[in-house]
Amino acid sequence: MSTKTDNKTPAPTWSPDVLRDFAAAFDPKLEALLSKKTDIPSRLKDAMTYALLAPGKRMRPYLATQCCQLAGKTAGQAFAAAAAIECVHCFSLVHDDLPAMDDDDLRRGRPTTHKQFDEATAILVGDALLALAFEILATGSPKEANLGQMVQVLAESTGATGMIGGQAADLAGQDQPPSIEKTQYIHQRKTGCLFSAAAKLGALAAGAPDAAIEAMGRFGLQLGLAFQIADDLLDVTASTDQMGKATSKDATAGKQTYPACVGIEESKIAAERAAKQAIDALSSFGPGAADLQALAKYAISRNY
Ligand code: IPE
Ligand code: IPE
Ligand code: MG
Ligand code: MG
Ligand code: MG
Repeated sequence: MSTKTDNKTPAPTWSPDVLRDFAAAFDPKLEALLSKKTDIPSRLKDAMTYALLAPGKRMRPYLATQCCQLAGKTAGQAFAAAAAIECVHCFSLVHDDLPAMDDDDLRRGRPTTHKQFDEATAILVGDALLALAFEILATGSPKEANLGQMVQVLAESTGATGMIGGQAADLAGQDQPPSIEKTQYIHQRKTGCLFSAAAKLGALAAGAPDAAIEAMGRFGLQLGLAFQIADDLLDVTASTDQMGKATSKDATAGKQTYPACVGIEESKIAAERAAKQAIDALSSFGPGAADLQALAKYAISRNY
């Protein structure tokens, strides 16, 4: 996919390696956080560890961390926000893959949690990761951060007005005539809301002013929309091996997707438009936002 969306050059240092380096540093901290919780029934804990620590791109925690740093604080100050949003994301994946939802057997190159363990365990893993996210925020957020606002952001963007509402609309939209309005509604909620929450939580962890939180939230929402349009495209164009999850499924499942509504070429244009809107949302931050703007380009040029 071309990335001719603006005339700003991304920071020369940014490449997908930045994301891989971030994951290499972040994953052991996430593992430590879960492993120190000793009073979890062993099968549940094994399954939580399996779901959370499988190799993901960690884009949402990276986004939270970058937003905290753009607001002038250290990466460490964003750790609770970053870990909490990854817990919610992993919960959403475990439930998304269940037989009652998308019925998938492969995720992050491995059997899905309900395949590796069992369906009841996978349901409980999702529930437990959602609760863990709020526990991590409550116990690990910096003292000066507005914890009440952080909880509100995470709850609203996860719940019935956010990701979960988007998932409900995604299921309700199956086998209905393709509608671009419906698809945009679904994508902003099921995916955009968690990206927006990641950005806002990073800003809140830094104690950023309202205008910065709002701008970063808009960045996250458009980034998430662009990311989900790219996911729709990759379902059509990429292989299972490449993605670590089954592809060529959305059309058979009758999903509301951009390619189903407007075809491949118009979908690429829509993804570029959303990525450009994301990039523009950070224009007031100047060159310090270059890494985040490069992330928006990566969201639509990625090949997995
Ligand atoms: C997959 O998200 C779910 C969607 C919103 C399309 P990612 O592609 O970020 O999944 P991981 O975390 O890298 O596995
Ligand atoms: C998933 O959308 C969104 C959430 C998990 C909230 P998809 O169903 O398209 O994601 P994949 O393709 O299974 O990763
Ligand atoms: Mg789905
Ligand atoms: Mg799915
Ligand atoms: Mg998909």
